[in-house]
Amino acid sequence: MSAKGSGLPFGIDFGGSGIKGAPVDLTAGEFAEERVRIDTPQPSTPDAVAEVFADLLAKFDDSDGRVGVTVPGVVRHGVVHSAANIDKAWIGEDADRLITDLTGRDVHVVNDADAAGLAEVRYGAAKGRDGLVIVTTLGTGIGSALVYDGVLVPNSELGHLEIDGHDAEKRAAASAREREDLSWDDWGKRLTTYYRKLEQLFSPELFVVGGGVSKKADKFLPLIKVDTEIIPAELLNAAGIVGAALYATESND
Ligand code: BGC
Repeated sequence: MSAKGSGLPFGIDFGGSGIKGAPVDLTAGEFAEERVRIDTPQPSTPDAVAEVFADLLAKFDDSDGRVGVTVPGVVRHGVVHSAANIDKAWIGEDADRLITDLTGRDVHVVNDADAAGLAEVRYGAAKGRDGLVIVTTLGTGIGSALVYDGVLVPNSELGHLEIDGHDAEKRAAASAREREDLSWDDWGKRLTTYYRKLEQLFSPELFVVGGGVSKKADKFLPLIKVDTEIIPAELLNAAGIVGAALYATESND
């Protein structure tokens, strides 16, 4: 994988603290080269972050395909409509156009959890599963992806369901466990409340639980008392990058 012009797509995972990217082999569903991480500039304004994307892309001369970029917010037709853990200046930004203009690449922006969900359904824990699969990411917030028969219903934002008068992610995200120093048991109870609500509303075939903490799934997944099958994500840190590259490659926008 070294010839320039190989057509490989590129995935960028844009988070509150780090920006990570790698060329992606979509046949295997994995990085084609080792990924690179750059600290997210503070403040994480669109112009500052887009410069980092350009620097990141310049480090890989064997990828000249489409570029997918995850954003922790609602994205419609390349325009960012909410920004949970990044600078609020992203709201209203036509990110596809901004980053395409700066980098000269064909860029497609996608919600972070939607990217992870696509990757898990295509290559990971939910590969080959039909019906409704709900992929959730437990991190600073709660991200969600609804995938039905392999097709993504974007921007579901189920981390913001209101449960008992609270924004669900404020009580049940991995950051809530750390902030409140919750035991696995106590966090498990909150997650049970959360996943029971999802179950009641959507009757999915399967829940997939991702986010960094899913590395420790054995500590908390057995504590989530739901009737629906619930399993850990498989792509872990690769899901955002791989899913973004996949989304960009298949996007009709
Ligand atoms: C945002 C979602 C995002 C999730 C995970 C939520 O606060 O609203 O768009 O997918 O965090 O980053």
